[in-house]
Amino acid sequence: MGTDAQFSRNMQIGRLQKGKATFFNLDGDEIEKERVEIKWDAEAAEKSGFEHFMMKEIHEQPKAVEDTINSVVKDEGIEFSEIGLEDEDIRKISQIRIVACGSAYHVGVVAQYVIEDLADIPVRVEVASEFRYRKLIFDKNELVVIISQSGETADSLAALREAKRQGIRTLAIVNVVGSSIAREADNVFYTLAGPEIAVATTKAYSTQLIACYTLAIQFAKIKGTISEERYQSLIEELLSLPKKITKILKEKERIQWFSAKQINAKDVFFIGRGIDYAISLEGSLKMKEISYIHSEAYAAGELKHGTISLIEDGILVIGVLTQNDLYEKTVSNMVECKSRGAYLMGLATYGNYSVSAL
Ligand code: F6R
Repeated sequence: MGTDAQFSRNMQIGRLQKGKATFFNLDGDEIEKERVEIKWDAEAAEKSGFEHFMMKEIHEQPKAVEDTINSVVKDEGIEFSEIGLEDEDIRKISQIRIVACGSAYHVGVVAQYVIEDLADIPVRVEVASEFRYRKLIFDKNELVVIISQSGETADSLAALREAKRQGIRTLAIVNVVGSSIAREADNVFYTLAGPEIAVATTKAYSTQLIACYTLAIQFAKIKGTISEERYQSLIEELLSLPKKITKILKEKERIQWFSAKQINAKDVFFIGRGIDYAISLEGSLKMKEISYIHSEAYAAGELKHGTISLIEDGILVIGVLTQNDLYEKTVSNMVECKSRGAYLMGLATYGNYSVSAL
């Protein structure tokens, strides 16, 4: 069940009365507003028996991911016509610049690896708060992608406006319908995570990843950089994700047991290569934000260039090891940390227990 909504813009005034909202400009003249249907319901904004919103939202990931996949994956493949991105537009893209803050920026770091790898399009990822304060050199066929759950983050909105001011096409990946970024971008890819009440993002982050993966897969198809067979198998992989997430969430108690063992950690280092490095960035941010434990994320091979001097007894090093071709390399960095006294934890793919021998 949905709810009707009207959006107030800057320099407008709203008057709320029972069952009625009226809008005025600064001269006091009434403004007619279009009504927009918001598909979120009130129940989605309640805790529904979970101890807190973040836990509830973590458990909502399978549905959020499934809904977001289903919004663009149709029988024939990925379909972006509702977003307004036609094949012709995609063919023209010369390079992509992703601009975002915090966790949304970390999604951009993953997207950079995936889009470059699949679609051969150069991608640059930028922190929005930096983007707006330097000289920007755009290519006229560049696509600027703004990622934002709320659609209201000031630096991301300013980046969007700057790109538009310079005549560059913008695509927003946004969760909140009718938010400023969604209203102002040329094209909008809505993630269907539902309301995210917890301050720290979880399910919206996951759906942003889905949005970026679907863009990468479709861009690759249109640019002809992957075969039809690979395209179909990547879509199959996408469709299998909600069940895989559900399976991981069933391990909640085991995960809590692992965390309980590390409750006294003072410093935590997340290390990984490629996408595992991007995931480390997000893991480290969540560690700081939620556990108040100091944490850093390092590209595994970079740690030795100075920071390794901080690795000593009692430091927890979490190696993210989800990619077979980079597994041994990161394991060797973990071994180096162990020799300096670190306690190791490995995050590997399901059934891969070899890291426990370290
Ligand atoms: C971290 C977190 C923040 C947001 C960032 C951007 O858990 O939630 O880092 O990702 O503030 O917010 P949005 O996506 O609303 O632009």
